[in-house]
Amino acid sequence: MRRLLVLVLSAMLASTGTAAANEQVVGGERASIQANPWAVYLVDDRGTQFCGGTIVAPSKVLTAAHCALGRSPKDVQVVAGREDKQDRRAGVTAAVTKIWIHQQYVSADEGEDIAVLTLKDALPYEPLPFAELSDRALYQPGTMLRALGWGRTSENGRTSRFLMQASVPVLPDEFCVDTYPQFVQADMFCAGYEGGKVDTCQGDSGGPVVVDGKLVGVTSWGEGCARRNKPGVYVRISRYARDLHSVVDASPLDL
Ligand code: ARG
Repeated sequence: MRRLLVLVLSAMLASTGTAAANEQVVGGERASIQANPWAVYLVDDRGTQFCGGTIVAPSKVLTAAHCALGRSPKDVQVVAGREDKQDRRAGVTAAVTKIWIHQQYVSADEGEDIAVLTLKDALPYEPLPFAELSDRALYQPGTMLRALGWGRTSENGRTSRFLMQASVPVLPDEFCVDTYPQFVQADMFCAGYEGGKVDTCQGDSGGPVVVDGKLVGVTSWGEGCARRNKPGVYVRISRYARDLHSVVDASPLDL
């Protein structure tokens, strides 16, 4: 998440000979798991983090369809309650028993980029409610949202060891359509700054975008990371509230 202008830093380096302490994170900052207990990450069969997710019910995790597609439940695990990926004693690693991917999903930039993982056991962390159809006002341009994840801290950099967060404003749909011809207004929104610099990045996909204690978006796609005029694109969750309720509120027996 977040990237910086390398130019400025190389100039600083050249003049002082020392690197800035936080050179990887410009525009983002650490976030605590206590304050964001519903933020989780997904690991593959080798234990490598590859996406984010959000606890939306005790045994349900919402993520992006492109994070789940082609994976079998036994090859994905959910890590919850852990801010520092290296702190193996913190939190829990939960087994996935079922993967639901939106029926219409084809690719992230065509929309419907949502999936729900059903866990074998309920998680001991508080779920986050998601935006309902009636929450359309939360997507007003200019609204400041908070995106969270363990993804890359620069476009070609490594993923983050710690949970990070960045604040980005919702951009007008016209801006997103202009910059991304394939942008689908009904299914997506874009957020960030025209000048770039603050953004989500690879590894953040599937993770939460929140405002007012509600999940309003899921990190989905973008061109590069934090580039000028290339904001992040997120799933417009309110639009999928009905679909999500049918999966998330189902009792384990009906699924
Ligand atoms: N698709 C990426 C992932 O799988 C997320 C990309 C977000 N890009 C951006 N510029 N905001 O993690």
